[in-house]
Amino acid sequence: MTSSFGNVCAIIGAQWGDEGKGKVVDIVAEHYDVIARACGGANAGHTIVIDSVQHIFHLLPSGCFHEGKPIILGAGMVLHLPTLLEEIEEMKKAGFDVLPRLHISSEAHILFEYHKKLDGVFEEARAKKKGKGIGTTMRGIGPAYQDKAARTGIRMESLDADLTSELKERAESIKEQFGLDIDINVELKNLEDARNVLKGCVTDTVSLIHEYLEGGKSILIEGAQGVLLDLDHGSYPYVTSSSTTISGALQALGLPPKSLESCIGIAKAYCTRVGEGEFPAEASEADGNRIRERGVEYGATTGRPRRCGWLSVPDLLKVVRLNGYTHWNITKLDVLDEEDQIPVMMSDGYQNLPGWKASTRGLTSFDELPENAKKYIQFIEEQTGVPVAFIGTGPGREEMIVKS
Ligand code: IMP
Repeated sequence: MTSSFGNVCAIIGAQWGDEGKGKVVDIVAEHYDVIARACGGANAGHTIVIDSVQHIFHLLPSGCFHEGKPIILGAGMVLHLPTLLEEIEEMKKAGFDVLPRLHISSEAHILFEYHKKLDGVFEEARAKKKGKGIGTTMRGIGPAYQDKAARTGIRMESLDADLTSELKERAESIKEQFGLDIDINVELKNLEDARNVLKGCVTDTVSLIHEYLEGGKSILIEGAQGVLLDLDHGSYPYVTSSSTTISGALQALGLPPKSLESCIGIAKAYCTRVGEGEFPAEASEADGNRIRERGVEYGATTGRPRRCGWLSVPDLLKVVRLNGYTHWNITKLDVLDEEDQIPVMMSDGYQNLPGWKASTRGLTSFDELPENAKKYIQFIEEQTGVPVAFIGTGPGREEMIVKS
């Protein structure tokens, strides 16, 4: 399979996150040597089922379950260290020792407890001023990237340093500005715990990834969130604080654009969004509730019910332009099995496509799909000019059509 996707392949969410990237990552990762995550933090949430046990990970990439494959956490990430340690521990319990193959960029930023507290303060202030906040995941993401952009952040390269006086100063300034009490002993304890576990993992991941490439290894880039949440190109200000496009991922990993050989866009057969912000193709309440129940659309990080709606061709065209997608993975097609009609948003209003009213659950061959389901997939290909390579037909790993 590597040959069809080349030596460097990226998997990038095409909507507002939660597209179900994990499954295709799992399938494609088997054919790649190195798994790299580039940006974001513990706002991401991916659910992985191993031996019937459900694991939810926020920082480690979904591909980390592939034994023996090096994992890179890139410079664009903001790392809440206790969460990372918990995930490493959970992996250990599941029988996977990730530490010897975990490589964390020394340029990645540390996300402290105070960033999480500030996330709450800023959300409250926005709610007071504008009647609503952004609806963040409360994981401290915005404040951590604020520090990074203000050049006051603390990077993983400082994990070994004594940060007592720096943290004291930070606590004083936060108290002064926001009246918040920060317990720096908790921060210092978290740092010490992380230092003990992670000291061998922090490295120059830019050199490392290039050495892998020069040594003929293949790289799978696992995107986080979705393109419509991108800080520059998403539905600002209702976005996350990192770059969620392929360009952002390449930047964070220190890879030149020309190294990329393929980019798989992941889009649900419909669309969901959590948090506030525009959603022009949002379904009516009744339709939305039906899709939510069928698709089990509740946030993996926050448990919030996701807002549900339909595909938007203008949005798909925009994200194709931003990412240069070479293939689509359309996920959760089976969720639409009982719809009479499937509205798709076009530039001049909605077009209703006929439903197929038959189960596609678990199908693995495109030929077996009902005629109207095939037409739905072909419609996406025609409208976007990008071929569909994978179609999700259920939550199980094997419930996937590999089309090309
Ligand atoms: P933040 O990234 O926690 O600051 O949240 C900003 C916006 O991005 C909110 O609308 C979140 O719901 C959304 N968001 C952040 N990460 C994810 C994700 O992994 N999936 C879906 N939505 C996300």
